[in-house]
Amino acid sequence: MAFNKRVKIKTILDQNPIGSELTIMGWVRTKRSNKNVTFIAMNDGSIITNYQVVADPNLISEEILKKCSTGACLKITGTVVESQGSGQSSELNAISIEVLGEADPEKYPLQPKKHSLEFLREIAHLRMRTNTFGAVFRVRHALAFAVHQYFNDKGFFYIHTPIITASDAEGAGETFKVTTLDIANPPKTEEGAVDFKQDFFEREANLTVSGQLEGELAAMALSEIYTFGPTFRAENSNTTRHLAEFWMIEPEMAFYDAEDNADLAEDFLKYLIRYALDHCMDDLAFLESRLLDEEKSKPADQRSEMGLIDKLKFVLENEFVRITYTEAIEILKRSKPNQKKKFQYLIEEWGADLQSEHERYLVEKHFKKPVILTDYPKDIKSFYMRQNEDGKTVAAMDILFPGIGEIVGGSQREERMDVLLQRMEEMNIPTEEMWWFLDTRRFGATPHAGFGLGFERMVQFVTGMGNIRDVIAFPRTPGNAEF
Ligand code: 4AD
Ligand code: MG
Repeated sequence: MAFNKRVKIKTILDQNPIGSELTIMGWVRTKRSNKNVTFIAMNDGSIITNYQVVADPNLISEEILKKCSTGACLKITGTVVESQGSGQSSELNAISIEVLGEADPEKYPLQPKKHSLEFLREIAHLRMRTNTFGAVFRVRHALAFAVHQYFNDKGFFYIHTPIITASDAEGAGETFKVTTLDIANPPKTEEGAVDFKQDFFEREANLTVSGQLEGELAAMALSEIYTFGPTFRAENSNTTRHLAEFWMIEPEMAFYDAEDNADLAEDFLKYLIRYALDHCMDDLAFLESRLLDEEKSKPADQRSEMGLIDKLKFVLENEFVRITYTEAIEILKRSKPNQKKKFQYLIEEWGADLQSEHERYLVEKHFKKPVILTDYPKDIKSFYMRQNEDGKTVAAMDILFPGIGEIVGGSQREERMDVLLQRMEEMNIPTEEMWWFLDTRRFGATPHAGFGLGFERMVQFVTGMGNIRDVIAFPRTPGNAEF
C-alpha cells in the first residue's frame, strides 16, 4: 500500500462508510482513557470536526498508547463502526496505530484548552492546528478560490503583475527597497548619492504597492483582467487592519465607467460572501460560536447585534448605500460625535481626509449597511483618478464595511492625456519614467476603471476575526517578521 492511501476525515464524515476498514492520518487533539478503552480525538485539517478513534488496550500496546498524546501525528487503521456515543455517527475501532511523529507532552505548546490569539501569534508555526485557525484558513482558501471562479466565469483574465517594480503606483512613498548593493558601503556617484546604476536592476527598485498600473496596460489589450497577488507597504501603522505584506485583488476593465465599476465591486463582494455561506458553513458556525463566547466578556453595549452568519446574510440581502464624499461630509458634520467633539479628528470642512472613525460611523451607526463612497476631493486621492467636471473631485470609490472600514479602493481612471499629465506634474509624479504607462493614453485610450480589494480585510469580515494578523498565516507587521 502506498503510504498516502489514507482516507480524509471529511470523506469519512461525508460518506459514512460503516463496516469499511480504512486508514486515517492526522494529529491527536485529545486522548482520554479508562481501564477498558482509550478514546483518541483525531483531526487531519480536512474539516473542523475531530474524528473519534476507539483503541482497545488488548489490541494496541500500552507503549504506543502512551505516545498518542496531544499533538502527536498518527497513522491509524481500523474499522468504521456506528458510534456508541452521541455527537458523531461513526467512529473508528483501531486495529493498528503507528506513531508517525511524537509530541513530547511536557513541551508541546498547545494544550487542549483555550489559548489567547496573542499567544497563538507567537507560535504561528503551530496555531494552524487549533480549531479557530483551521477554520480561518479553510475559509481563506475558499475565498481565494471563489475570486478566481468569479472572474473566470465572467471572462476576465488573470494577469501576474510584477512583485519587483521601479514605480510607486500609489505615489505614497511607502515602499520597501529592493537592492543587492552593499548597504554598509554602497557605490556613490560623483555628487555623493548612492549610485543605483551599479545596482542589480541598474536603477532603484522596490516591492510593489499595487499591481494596478501594470493591470491597466493589460486591460488596454485584453479588456477585462484581474490581478491577485501580494503587495507591500512600509507604512508604520500598528492597527488591527494593516499589514506590511497583504494580498490584493485588482480587477481592471476597459469600457467601464465609475458606475459600472461600483456595480461590479458590489456584485463581486456579494458573490464571495455567498460562496463562503454555501461552502464553509461548518467553519462559519464554529467561528460564530467562538465570537459569541468572546462577546460574553464584553460590556453589553459593546456586543454586536447580529451573529456572524446573520451579518453575512444581511450584507447579501441589502443594497449597498451609494453616496458622494460631499454628502458624507454633511452627515459627519452634523453627527453627534462631531458635535460633541468625540471624534479624534473633527470634521470641520470639505476636503478633510476621512479617518477610520468617520468611515465606521457612517457604516455602523448612520447607515448600518455597507457604503460606497464616491467622488472624493482630488487632493486626497491618487494621480490616476479621473477628474470630474467640477474640477475639484475625482471619480474615486471606496467601499466601507461594518467592523472593517475601507475594504475596497478604486476609481475610474484618467484616460485624457492632457489632464493626466497636468495632474502628474501637480503631484510631482515623474512623467518621464512613466512613459510606458502614459503610452496607453497615447495609443488607443478608452474610458476604463478598476478597484482593489484587500483580501485579508475580506477574510476578516467573513470570519469575524478582529485582528488582521489572525487571517494570514505569517503576518508581517512593523517589528515582526518571525517564521
Ligand atoms: O485603497 P488602496 O491603496 O488602492 C490601491 O492600491 C489601488 N491601486 C487599487 C486599485 O484601484 N486597483 O488599497 C486597496 C485596498 C484597501 O481598500 C484595503 O482593503 C487594502 O487594499 N489595503 C490594506 N490591507 C491590509 N493592510 C494594508 N496596509 C492595506 N492597505 C490597503
Ligand atoms: Mg484606499
